[in-house]
Amino acid sequence: MSGKENIIIDIEHLSKSFGDKQVLKDISLYIRKGEFVTLLGPSGCGKTTLLRMIAGFLQPDEGKIMMEWDNRGGKTEFRDVAGIPPHQRPLNTVFQRYALFPHLDVYDNIAFGLKLKGVPKDEIDIRVRKVLKLVSMSDYEDRDVDSLSGGQQQRVAIARAIVNQPKVLLLDEPLAALDLKMRQDMQTERHHSRDERGKDPADRYPYGHLQRTCQLLRRRLHR
Ligand SMILES: Nc1ncnc2c1ncn2[C@@H]1O[C@H](COP(=O)(O)OP(=O)(O)O)[C@@H](O)[C@H]1O
Ligand SMILES: [Mg+2]
Repeated sequence: MSGKENIIIDIEHLSKSFGDKQVLKDISLYIRKGEFVTLLGPSGCGKTTLLRMIAGFLQPDEGKIMMEWDNRGGKTEFRDVAGIPPHQRPLNTVFQRYALFPHLDVYDNIAFGLKLKGVPKDEIDIRVRKVLKLVSMSDYEDRDVDSLSGGQQQRVAIARAIVNQPKVLLLDEPLAALDLKMRQDMQTERHHSRDERGKDPADRYPYGHLQRTCQLLRRRLHR
């Protein structure tokens, strides 16, 4: 067997500059199915820039991003995603500054994407309730998002992303907005959700599990 089986994202020789400032230089990495990969590096080293390119919000100057792709015929292929807009990529992103819809309650924030896709109401209900449970927000479904704490809003943002069951979930510093106590609580939650693995469709997101700390950015962008 080669070392590259079960790859879901393959990034090859990616570079990106803003003006004359090169932020990413010749980045290559691959991510396997079921893996939880962390990009570690100081502020400003290009972590968000890399995520935005994977998500499709930013185009690389050089290099390519390959992703596993379910084509219309129901077959899975591996393709270059250059030029494919964010909403068509098989992933969801929770950004550092996550934006919930302020005019919708918790339930409708999470259900929004499924409604757009025309998922039947009964199925929406089941899926929304499952992810609410996963992030321990079951008692908050009718709440106005403005009335929630930062940590609770963060959980809703994560629930909103995982309810779509994307192949890949990108989280940009998902705990950065939280205070220390809240971070500890969320880490406990991640252990709980790991116990739920196997019972829940969201079990493909193995929080805290299979964790591989990837120091790639820090190593390669060291100046
Ligand atoms: N749209 C942009 N225009 C100009 N410079 C940018 C832009 N986005 C990011 N940068 C710069 O690129 C560098 C990397 O930023 P970023 O990817 O946000 O870092 P990190 O997420 O690792 O903190 C920073 O110096 C930042 O100022
Ligand atoms: Mg960042």
